[in-house]
Amino acid sequence: MNSAITSWWDTNWSGDRSEALVFGRTGKLIRVRGFGRYRKPSVGIGRSGKSRRANFELRMRAEGAGRKSAFRETGRAVVFRTNMSSKTLKIAALAGDGIGPEVMREAIKVLRAVEKKFALTINITEAPVGWAGIDAAGKALPDATLKLCKESDCILFGSVGLPDRDPTIPKEERPERAALLRLRKEFSLFANLRPVKLPKELSHACPLAKERQGTGIDILVVRELTGGMYFGQPKKTEQISAGASKATILRAIDTMVYTTPEIERIAHVAFKTARLRRKKVTSIDKANVLENGVLWRDVVTTVAKEYPDVQLEHMFVDNGAMQLVLKPTQFDVMLCENMFGDILSDEAAALGGSLGMLPSASLGSAGSTGQFGFYEPAGGTAPDIAGKNLANPIAQILSTALMLRYTFNLNDAALAIENAVGKVISDGLRTGDIFSASETNARKVGTTEMGDAIAAAI
Ligand code: IPM
Ligand code: MG
Repeated sequence: MNSAITSWWDTNWSGDRSEALVFGRTGKLIRVRGFGRYRKPSVGIGRSGKSRRANFELRMRAEGAGRKSAFRETGRAVVFRTNMSSKTLKIAALAGDGIGPEVMREAIKVLRAVEKKFALTINITEAPVGWAGIDAAGKALPDATLKLCKESDCILFGSVGLPDRDPTIPKEERPERAALLRLRKEFSLFANLRPVKLPKELSHACPLAKERQGTGIDILVVRELTGGMYFGQPKKTEQISAGASKATILRAIDTMVYTTPEIERIAHVAFKTARLRRKKVTSIDKANVLENGVLWRDVVTTVAKEYPDVQLEHMFVDNGAMQLVLKPTQFDVMLCENMFGDILSDEAAALGGSLGMLPSASLGSAGSTGQFGFYEPAGGTAPDIAGKNLANPIAQILSTALMLRYTFNLNDAALAIENAVGKVISDGLRTGDIFSASETNARKVGTTEMGDAIAAAI
């Protein structure tokens, strides 16, 4: 049987509901959404990750490139990478400290609206982490919380760490290291994606002059997350003797370590994601001083040979920090080791209007969808504004969009969230961090009202 549909890509099945990117009759990629019934369900869709041939009968609505037509198809197609073997999305929600709980509440509100609109079943289990974990179970990452994470499809994370709390708790047991870094390592989440986008309506919130913003800032920071100085050994503070005076001198040591495979795998993520964007990777290093920088540059150059369609540029990190404020529009994907990525992603976030707008996805494999992931706002606990209904929930809400896209392959649901955020921004709703009195039609709102508006716009 001949079919107009020659192949499937990124197919997403849940029961008899389907979403897919399909090569249509013309060979062009179109997006389809619809409901399918398999004529022979037994040869239907395989388990997660398998490619199968399947008979199908679909009624679909094609969207994309301005077309909106309904059509019916029957035939046989190869289904690649099916991901949704069950309808239930199992999410561990770890709100943490500071503004974490209040922005998480809004993100869950938005998720519930998505659940309704897309007829999903979303199973969200909340568990304590960070100081909330220490208070509840004596540990920043309680055993029960870790167990829940292992049993879930993904982790939706808030933020942890309150620098001023209880100085008697040793640094190794404090939330940043004992919960956040531990989870990143535990699940081998080496690829951290931080998409920075300045909406045109928030041009005033960007610290750069209008002419430097060009036609818009749109940067993806790809940060290596499980190596470098965050984890390298030795890592310690030691006493050293101080010659004749015998005064105690302390010496702190952090070690920057990267191996070839660690650099290769994150480089692949950067090139793969660049292919879906403007096809340019700027690799950040300090090759003029650091051994790590020399190796980083060599390995990235080698990996780049597999992606001849993607332009590669190398940049020293100090220059990168400067170029971000001079000409941010030159960047598409910025590939960074762990600490450089931490620093530059905050700088880039400010260019995108506010750190409160920057979501992130931490993944454990190179660019594939349907995988375990960890989703968190890139900003911190912001203790100064916690509990005051002032925090911007958008970074947390956009993190749930990344979650739907990368772990559940629900691109339409992810887009629904991103579009809803875009709508409330263009409607003029602003939390304090993105508010300017000079804007006409802007209205200052609190965390809850912002969440309500986004949920309503789904
Ligand atoms: C981030 C944060 C964390 C980091 C802190 C809270 C440990 O700044 O995710 O960017 O340094 O990675
Ligand atoms: Mg940071």
